[in-house]
Amino acid sequence: MRALTWHGKHDVRVDTVDDPEIINPRDAIIKVTSTAICGSDLHLYDGVIPGMKSGDILGHEFMGEVVETGPKSSLTKGQRVVVPFTISCGACFFCEQHQYSACSNSNPVEKQDLAAPVYGHAMAGLFGYSHMTGGYSGGQAEYVRVPFSDIGPVVIPDGMDDEDVLFLSDILPTGWMAALNAEIQPDDTVAVWGCGPVGLFAVQSALHMGAARVIAIDHWPHRLELARGLGADVINFRETDVREALMEMSGGLGVDAVIDAVGMEAHGFAIDNMLDTVKQKVGIGADRASALRQALLAVRRGGRVSIPGVYGGLADKFPLGALMEKGLSLRTGQTHVQAYTAELLELIQQGKLDTTFLISHRLPLEDAPRGYQCFHDNQDEWTKVILKPGMKMAA
Ligand SMILES: NC(=O)c1ccc[n+]([C@@H]2O[C@H](COP(=O)([O-])OP(=O)(O)OC[C@H]3O[C@@H](n4cnc5c(N)ncnc54)[C@H](O)[C@@H]3O)[C@@H](O)[C@H]2O)c1
Ligand SMILES: [Zn+2]
Ligand SMILES: [Zn+2]
Repeated sequence: MRALTWHGKHDVRVDTVDDPEIINPRDAIIKVTSTAICGSDLHLYDGVIPGMKSGDILGHEFMGEVVETGPKSSLTKGQRVVVPFTISCGACFFCEQHQYSACSNSNPVEKQDLAAPVYGHAMAGLFGYSHMTGGYSGGQAEYVRVPFSDIGPVVIPDGMDDEDVLFLSDILPTGWMAALNAEIQPDDTVAVWGCGPVGLFAVQSALHMGAARVIAIDHWPHRLELARGLGADVINFRETDVREALMEMSGGLGVDAVIDAVGMEAHGFAIDNMLDTVKQKVGIGADRASALRQALLAVRRGGRVSIPGVYGGLADKFPLGALMEKGLSLRTGQTHVQAYTAELLELIQQGKLDTTFLISHRLPLEDAPRGYQCFHDNQDEWTKVILKPGMKMAA
């Protein structure tokens, strides 16, 4: 089959690789109809996530048709399913508490030591996201093996387009969990850093949950426009002092809750970010945490901090004093996708959440390397890229 494979920093290729096979009784094989490139994939593309090997198949946002099932899969051939990016057994201590992205059964034993020195514990399995998370082949491919297929995949009712539901795999629940973690209250003013797909869905979710005002921060005019279209006020951090603007917009109090939907590759020329950038380049620091620092300083006393943005290693210059002295609460994590898909599918069906407004490009799988490059280099215009294995390259 054809699949998008990683070969190093800024080097991804579509190669011919072996077809996946059923290995365990609960597996299923999915023929991929749509798959997306995620901001998290850019961290792999930029080579800032450890544990990658040349030839790894990327992709953790995908859906398709069930073409083969193991004897203990609950799926049947021909069903259309969206697959959560978190691989979860459904039965361990963590899965029983709906903390699916902390599953202790989905990362094979031989891979578990990779993350433990940095995180204290092994991570759960994720599709297409390094050997720290199990080394599973991802779904930017014609076919993919889905372990624990009786737990994760969401069966899609007839009549719904791929594009309506594809983002149930990751970014929609991630924006949703980001807003839940911010514990939105009806009168809240909430600030969201980053107007990529995750930030945009966090904006939409916070408004849906009743926030009185949402302020979205980025520097790409088109992405800010998309946030404004959802009902947010916006700040362009290249033009405006973010903290000053937020203080003014919150009556001098500071905003009630902050959401960092930027993660470990913050842009900008703030001094702390320039130092982080140098350290990241020479490999002595994994995270550019400038947006998070700004968020911690901007939130009001007693406020809430939610971090959906991915961080890989150790960040320094971390405002621990602000966290403690202001009595902030902080919640984060890889998304517990399986906990939210049923509710979110219903909201999509009722027309209460829009999942298509941010899609900018649809490409054949064969054109995926260009998709990565443009999503990376031209973020303003390329807001979300969908890859279609069934689509032919233009002549
Ligand atoms: N927690 C999870 O399970 C989960 C799931 C999906 C994605 N993520 C993470 O969420 C983050 C966002 O993902 P995405 O797909 O939206 O990525 P993206 O790269 O498309 O968007 C990030 C946005 O942040 C903006 N930005 C950069 N520096 C900024 C700053 N200093 N202030 C304000 N905005 C700034 C960029 O201009 C960009 O528009 C990434 O770190 C990704 O890995 C986490
Ligand atoms: Zn993703
Ligand atoms: Zn589990």
